[in-house]
Amino acid sequence: MGKSGYGLLEGKSGVIFGALNESSIAWAIAEAVHREGGRFALSNAPVARRLGTLDALAERTGSPILWADATDDEDLAKLFEEVKQTYGSIDFIVHSIGMGLNVRKNKPYEALNYNWYHKTLDISAISLHRIVRHALETGALADGASIVALSYIGAQRIFSKYSEMGDAKALLESIVRAFGYRLGKRGIRINAVSQSPTRTTAGSGIDGFDAMYEFAQRLSPLGNADAESCADYVVSLLSDLTRMVTMQTLFHDGGFSAMGISDELVEDLSAALTPKE
Ligand SMILES: NC(=O)c1ccc[n+]([C@@H]2O[C@H](COP(=O)([O-])OP(=O)(O)OC[C@H]3O[C@@H](n4cnc5c(N)ncnc54)[C@H](O)[C@@H]3O)[C@@H](O)[C@H]2O)c1
Repeated sequence: MGKSGYGLLEGKSGVIFGALNESSIAWAIAEAVHREGGRFALSNAPVARRLGTLDALAERTGSPILWADATDDEDLAKLFEEVKQTYGSIDFIVHSIGMGLNVRKNKPYEALNYNWYHKTLDISAISLHRIVRHALETGALADGASIVALSYIGAQRIFSKYSEMGDAKALLESIVRAFGYRLGKRGIRINAVSQSPTRTTAGSGIDGFDAMYEFAQRLSPLGNADAESCADYVVSLLSDLTRMVTMQTLFHDGGFSAMGISDELVEDLSAALTPKE
């Protein structure tokens, strides 16, 4: 991608949730949206003020930061009121929020702490419902807007270490479909982008992440998709070029989801299974 972009989001404005630091997928998305001429507010949970480096991104892209806990209705209602005052109405929302509390604390799936499980579902999935709801209730969302949420193939298939996050992503993708149906009348679309394992703060919080990353790398014909290529794909979904696409889980994974096994993995396993002299 050239530095100047194609002006695909010229005249559009929105909110990008979930940029924490330079490795965040939402960070790359914000840079790509900026490159394409889009304007946006950045949002993250108030705790990210001390955990992350969002100020630098805000400065670089000339964007305001609106702190909001995505599990808090009051915070979100206030956020969209402010958004309305600044932009009138917005054309896109990016949801790039996730956290697995049991995963982080190494609680196995068979022995989930249910308070943490509730929080995981609230932060990683129900927050999408809350965000869309408050955007609608405040009248901040324009007809023809596009909403994108980040997901992972653990929603459909079992990746043993992904544990409760598989449930959260399944719920997230279901909310995408349920809202997609209801928003269609206004030409508003909503899709999930199911992304390759990516080295970020959330990613590296998963036990066995390096092995999952390497497995996907060896299975995917194009290799793992990085955050920058994901951001370019998200730009296309926020643009008018994809105006008839809605309610989908779109795999941005270098071909991983269509594979069974690759020569590289067959050879690696054959070597591992050959008795040593
Ligand atoms: N990293 C991967 O391998 C990978 C793969 C596929 C999908 N995803 C998804 O991409 C999205 C972004 O994750 P990432 O990998 O860029 O990691 P990240 O840690 O950079 O981003 C996760 C974000 O969620 C925010 N967040 C957590 N709790 C919140 C709350 N209560 N309110 C508001 N924000 C909150 C964090 O502050 C952080 O900015 C997530 O949905 C994640 O599940 C990641």
